[in-house]
Amino acid sequence: MTRTKLSHAMANLCIQLIFFIFLFFISALAQNNGIVPLGRSLTAGETSNSWLSPSGDFAFGFQKIPDKDLYLFSIWYNNIPDKTVVWYANPTNTVPRGSTVALDAQTGLVFRDPQGLQLWSADVNPNQVDHGFMNDTGNFILKGSDESWLWESFKHPADTILPNQELEINGTLSSRQSATNFSQGRFYLHFQGAVVLTTSRNVLISDDGVYYPNTANWSNDGYKVIFDSGGTMYIRKVNNQTEQLSPSRLGSENYYHRATLDFDGLFTHYYHPRNSTSNSNWTILWSVPDNICLTIKYKGVIACGYNNVCMLENGRPVCKCPKGYVLRDPNNMYGDCKANSLVSCGGVEGDSVENLYDFEVMNDTDWPMNDFYQISPSSETICKLSCLQNCLCAVAIFRVNSCWMLKLPLINGRVDYRLQSKAFIKYHKSDAPPAYPIVPQGYPVESKSKDRGTLILVGSVLLGSSFLVNLTFITAACLGVYLIYQKKKVIFHLNTDAKDINLHIFPYKELAEATDGFKEELGRGSFGIVYKGELQISSKGSIIAVKKLDRVAKDAEKEFRAEVKTIGQTNHKNLVRLLGFCDEGQHRLLVYEYMSHGTLARLLLHDPKPSWNLRTQIAIGIARGLVYLHEECRTQIIHCDIKPQNVLLDEYFNARISDFGLAKLLMISQSQTMTSIRGTKGYVAPEWFRNNQINAKVDVYSFGVLLLEIISCRKCVEDIENIGEGENPILTDWAWDCFQEGRLDKFVDNDLEALEDKMMLKRFLMVAIWCIQENPSLRPKMRKVSQMLDGIVEVMVPPCPSPFCSTS
Ligand SMILES: *[C@@H]1O[C@H](CO)[C@@H](O)[C@H](O)[C@H]1NC(C)=O
Ligand SMILES: *[C@@H]1O[C@H](CO)[C@@H](O)[C@H](O)[C@H]1NC(C)=O
Ligand SMILES: *[C@@H]1O[C@H](CO)[C@@H](O)[C@H](O)[C@H]1NC(C)=O
Ligand SMILES: *[C@@H]1O[C@H](CO)[C@@H](O)[C@H](O)[C@H]1NC(C)=O
Ligand SMILES: *[C@@H]1O[C@H](CO)[C@@H](O)[C@H](O)[C@H]1NC(C)=O
Ligand SMILES: *[C@@H]1O[C@H](CO)[C@@H](O)[C@H](O)[C@H]1NC(C)=O
Ligand SMILES: *[C@@H]1O[C@H](CO)[C@@H](O)[C@H](O)[C@H]1NC(C)=O
Ligand SMILES: *[C@@H]1O[C@H](CO)[C@@H](O)[C@H](O)[C@H]1NC(C)=O
Repeated sequence: MTRTKLSHAMANLCIQLIFFIFLFFISALAQNNGIVPLGRSLTAGETSNSWLSPSGDFAFGFQKIPDKDLYLFSIWYNNIPDKTVVWYANPTNTVPRGSTVALDAQTGLVFRDPQGLQLWSADVNPNQVDHGFMNDTGNFILKGSDESWLWESFKHPADTILPNQELEINGTLSSRQSATNFSQGRFYLHFQGAVVLTTSRNVLISDDGVYYPNTANWSNDGYKVIFDSGGTMYIRKVNNQTEQLSPSRLGSENYYHRATLDFDGLFTHYYHPRNSTSNSNWTILWSVPDNICLTIKYKGVIACGYNNVCMLENGRPVCKCPKGYVLRDPNNMYGDCKANSLVSCGGVEGDSVENLYDFEVMNDTDWPMNDFYQISPSSETICKLSCLQNCLCAVAIFRVNSCWMLKLPLINGRVDYRLQSKAFIKYHKSDAPPAYPIVPQGYPVESKSKDRGTLILVGSVLLGSSFLVNLTFITAACLGVYLIYQKKKVIFHLNTDAKDINLHIFPYKELAEATDGFKEELGRGSFGIVYKGELQISSKGSIIAVKKLDRVAKDAEKEFRAEVKTIGQTNHKNLVRLLGFCDEGQHRLLVYEYMSHGTLARLLLHDPKPSWNLRTQIAIGIARGLVYLHEECRTQIIHCDIKPQNVLLDEYFNARISDFGLAKLLMISQSQTMTSIRGTKGYVAPEWFRNNQINAKVDVYSFGVLLLEIISCRKCVEDIENIGEGENPILTDWAWDCFQEGRLDKFVDNDLEALEDKMMLKRFLMVAIWCIQENPSLRPKMRKVSQMLDGIVEVMVPPCPSPFCSTS
């Protein structure tokens, strides 16, 4: 009995053993010839989670991400210690344990998450697939029963090409996010007859975004990039000639090769000894561009983010925030930096800017194309003082005997030792009282919108405090404003009696009662606070807005009356109507109609966006209001502070411009102390900073910015925290970028209503770009702007608004 049992058991064991050995043999066989039959699958997290090539050089499957329970669906070099990845699926490739990849007759090659949801599949007819094959070249191939190649990973490269691989016209590589994050990164290689490196995903429309090659006209007579089996990379040209890319001197007998578009933007040919000892590494054989930090063709960000500084270390870009700035994302040194504190100029009354700000010096650092003002000749001392006095100035660059002032955000910062320059980085001393913008925001500002991040909070543009006016440019700017004002003042002295116009003169007491003792604040503007009030006219109450002026010089009484008269004479459906005023002792108040729908600024922030139709009507209304102010009323009125806070909406959502006619009053009081430029940061025309005549074209500029805001529902200077990576926070630049690339969809953030009306959208965008031309003489007059918006006058394709633009 026991004997037979024992022999049975033995036999069983033997059979099992033989079966096991057989299985092992089969699987070993399957592994070693590289063939993957139908029905095979791999599961992330299990021990056997790859298919090997015959030599074992390459593996296809799931590679574990170090220190995480995540797996990368990829192909990698399997015989070297760091298992370098050469292919991965896009866009999803990093997945949790339990995800699968399967090859079967129903689905072909598919990649699924643990719940069975399909994440990726090979683009092939599954019925034709007979088996897969992991080639020793690193190519994973799906073959038909006749051995024909139906699909191959070489034809769908990620960021790397290998020997035996080719790249044809329109072939693209795209970089990963970082060394260990395989999400889509910032860089692309497009083969366009030449190897072109760019930050733009699409095949090129213009050379914007291209950072290699460095010339606009590269030769494009190549038809293939060939990485031959010997490890030489070259372009084969139409005329059968070749253009060598990387030098050939190593061969592939003893070395592995790969060419990767690295996450930091360099296209690099690496080699690695085949019989690797434990600590051999990939070595760079060749890479382009030589110095990615010095690429300035593109206005957007290339190697390092906004406010960051790029420098080369061992041939690779490294980014470092300047003093006073920190990384927006501490784990991404290539990203944006943000200022630790508000960079401005204002301080507590009586405190000088020198006590608030200081400079950090950085040698040979520059942000080309960010300067808004140049002083030449200048000394180092003047350069620093000028920056200290200028609220917009974040950095001053001094070189030889010139000084450049730069504003935020700083783009394309880099170290260039050839420069021999000094950068003075302005920062707010940590022990100093907090800075605040001297001129308050325009009227009326929503009380909620105070906290908008540190970078952009600077309310208004102005040139520092009253001493040190000897600085040439401040004097020049102020003098310009002053002189213009002087001319106008003469006119207003002629008639200062307001009684002959139809304006009600209110006693102060009556207004105090109407506003219930100035209780309900509607907003704060450049001139004072606006209160809500109610007047008892006949039996029906009428709601009013009372503006208490606090910035008009005490002895400017005549001017006040003159201005009020000018304002009182205006009558247009796109202007807020002045009902009356009060001028009693030191009290100066203006009484306006009340606008029930608040400011345009608030409307534009509304989520969801206000309708495209409403937005276009508002834009047209504002343009008409400005035509009236500039050309149709008795005295020309330049607004000087057009922005969404100064456009109100009545009960029918008609746009009504407010705060017009007051700019001159403010200038009188300021020309005496010579402290301030009118306008609000982001909307002010560049000529305010220059020694130019200020004319109605400043309003055209501001209208252009406002029009862009209406089209896109974005702020004129967006906080970098609110925008996508690589988007330009400066709306005027972003508009030009999108227009250049023909990406209206990007500009309106996929606003379907606007995109359906593409003709009008394009027309509005082109009009806006005409308005924001830096050269005032290129800007159309408001009448023409209005006609173009209405579609009465044809709109030409506008040139680049800035003289710094690359040619299109
Ligand atoms: C592996 O790739 C090489 C080079 O492309 C090719 O010649 C060879 O036929 C491939 N092997 C198989 C079994 O498909
Ligand atoms: C490359 O892409 C462009 C734009 O999509 C297209 O016009 C062109 O025909 C493509 N060329 C080839 C060879 O596929
Ligand atoms: C990779 O980066 C992207 C974008 O920054 C992020 O969303 C994703 O979570 C990262 N993936 C991993 C695995 O860290
Ligand atoms: C552009 O191409 C022309 C003709 O090939 C050449 O003469 C010229 O030097 C090129 N310009 C640049 C900047 O490379
Ligand atoms: C191109 O070069 C190949 C090999 O170098 C050769 O076989 C072929 O005849 C050449 N074709 C022309 C048109 O010159
Ligand atoms: C590979 O190893 C052999 C002997 O171990 C050695 O002779 C050869 O030089 C090595 N090749 C390389 C590229 O290091
Ligand atoms: C290889 O590269 C890794 C990471 O780049 C580095 O830490 C290591 O020191 C290198 N080893 C050698 C021998 O250069
Ligand atoms: C900057 O350059 C000056 C001389 O031009 C030198 O004295 C100073 O040490 C340099 N500073 C730094 C941080 O390299």
